[in-house]
Amino acid sequence: MTRMPARRSTVALKFLMAVTGLIMVGYLLLHMYGNLKVFAGQEAFDEYAHHLRTIGEPMLPHEGLLWIVRVVLLASIIGHAYAAVTLWRRNRKAAGYTGGKRYHSARGSAGIQRSYASFTLRWGGVVIALFVIYHLLHLTGNQIHPGGASDSPYQRVVNGFEIWWVVLSYTVAMLAVGLHLWHGVWSALATLGANRSATRTGSRLTPLAWIVSGIITIGFLLPPWAILLGIVD
Ligand code: HEM
Repeated sequence: MTRMPARRSTVALKFLMAVTGLIMVGYLLLHMYGNLKVFAGQEAFDEYAHHLRTIGEPMLPHEGLLWIVRVVLLASIIGHAYAAVTLWRRNRKAAGYTGGKRYHSARGSAGIQRSYASFTLRWGGVVIALFVIYHLLHLTGNQIHPGGASDSPYQRVVNGFEIWWVVLSYTVAMLAVGLHLWHGVWSALATLGANRSATRTGSRLTPLAWIVSGIITIGFLLPPWAILLGIVD
């Protein structure tokens, strides 16, 4: 067996995945809550977006806190992806992956458990990564501006979500986020030792994962759909 430093052990990598994942869940909760300010109107939303950049001044420079958040998020994404890919590879190797099915499941040759977890966590992760790039170009950088560019963050959001395919693409991405979170929150807390049950259904983590992923998914979906349906304009 090859020797490897403890920090690269499977347990350490799973710990890294769990902690970076939970940091991002915290960000998503705050971001989702902030987005709900669209229901308070243009002035409130733009004021909020402006405040994100001045918060902490003069102790911190302009956009100081925002940059701290960005650096923490970027470090979390890199750590999360590194751990994911390393664990994924290690898993394939350990299972003697030869291109066929890896797990033998009593549930039949389709192995539902395998397809569910791998789809929501692995491919879900890839979909979310692509979404974040599209999203930053759309609402942060405004290089992509369906419906028209604007200096007003509120107007950028409204212009985009008046278009059905933008709402559809965000909806697909939010469902990927929701599924990823449902499984991810559960797994992260289990890694950190919070699971006390032998079965998934009996675990207290199950309702918790539903609540966290449900609140984030529904909260994110409210602004785009309210705009598309003309409730916010
Ligand atoms: C319908 C759902 C969403 C809406 C309406 C939305 C809206 C916005 C807006 C308006 C901004 C720009 C804020 C500003 O510059 O003042 C932004 C930035 C951002 N969003 Fe979202 N967002 C959504 C979902 C998400 C999701 C699911 C993620 C992550 C998976 C995410 C990650 C980010 C990041 C990383 C930034 C950049 C923050 C920065 O560095 O300035 N967003 N979002």
